[in-house]
Amino acid sequence: TPVAAVIPAAGRGVRLGPGAPKALRALSGTPMLIHAVRALAASRHVSLVIVVAPPDGAAEVKSLLDAHALPGGTPSGSWGRTDFLVVPGGESRQESVRLGLDALPPQYGVVLVHDAARPLVPVETVDAVVEAVRDGAPAVVPALPLADTVKEVEPAAAAGDPEPVVATPERARLRAVQTPQGFDRAALVRAHETVTENVTDDASMVEQLGLTVVAVPGHEEAFKVTRPLDLVLAEAVLARRRL
Ligand code: C5P
Repeated sequence: TPVAAVIPAAGRGVRLGPGAPKALRALSGTPMLIHAVRALAASRHVSLVIVVAPPDGAAEVKSLLDAHALPGGTPSGSWGRTDFLVVPGGESRQESVRLGLDALPPQYGVVLVHDAARPLVPVETVDAVVEAVRDGAPAVVPALPLADTVKEVEPAAAAGDPEPVVATPERARLRAVQTPQGFDRAALVRAHETVTENVTDDASMVEQLGLTVVAVPGHEEAFKVTRPLDLVLAEAVLARRRL
C-alpha cells in the first residue's frame, strides 16, 4: 500500500523568537520546511507529501516547493518520484494535521505525520517507521531514552515561581518521542474524528482509541527546532554532513 506523509508547517514558532513562520526560516540558506520535505522524499517508500501551510501562506509555500524541485526539471507539483500537495492549516497542530488528512487521496493506506520543525531526520528513521507500520502496528513512534531525569510538578500560577514536585517517573521507562510518526490510515482518521481534547502528538490520539502504539529507535538528528539554540545545533549538523 502506498505511503503518504503529512507535514504540519502552519505554526508561528513563537519560542524561536520574532520572524517568519518557523517552517519558512532558513537553515544554511534553505527553508526548514524544504529540508523536512527532502528528508521524507528521500525514502523510497514515500510517494506523496502533503504540506500544511500557514493559513495565509499556501501560495507562497507552493512556489517555494516548486522553486526547490529536484534538478532536471520536474512538472509543478512533483519532485521526481514524489508528488506534493499544499493545503492551508488551522489554529492548532491537531487541526492542521486533520486538514492534511482531508486532502489525502484514497489509495494511501499508510500515513506518516512529520513536523516541519524536525528538518534533519535521517532517512533510516523514516524507513524504520514505515516498516513497523507495514509489519502490522496501527501506530509507530520513533523514540529515544532521556538524558535528563523528569519530574512532574504542580505548575506555578506565575512564571518563575517555585513549583512543588509531585512525582519522579522512573527514567529508564521514559522515552522522548519524535516524528515521523507512522499510522494505519484508518486508525489515524478515526482518532482525529473521535479525540477532541488537545494533544501534543498524533500517536496519543490513537492510544486513546485503545489501539497499540509501538516505539522504534529514534535518532538524535531528528530533534525539534524549537528554541534559538536549536538553530545553532541544526547548522552544526548540516556543516558536519557537508564534510
Ligand atoms: O509548536 P510545535 O513545535 O509543537 O509544532 C510542531 C509542528 O506543528 C510544527 O511543524 C508546526 O509548524 C506545526 N503546527 C501546525 N499548525 C499549528 C501549530 C503547529 O501545523 N497551528
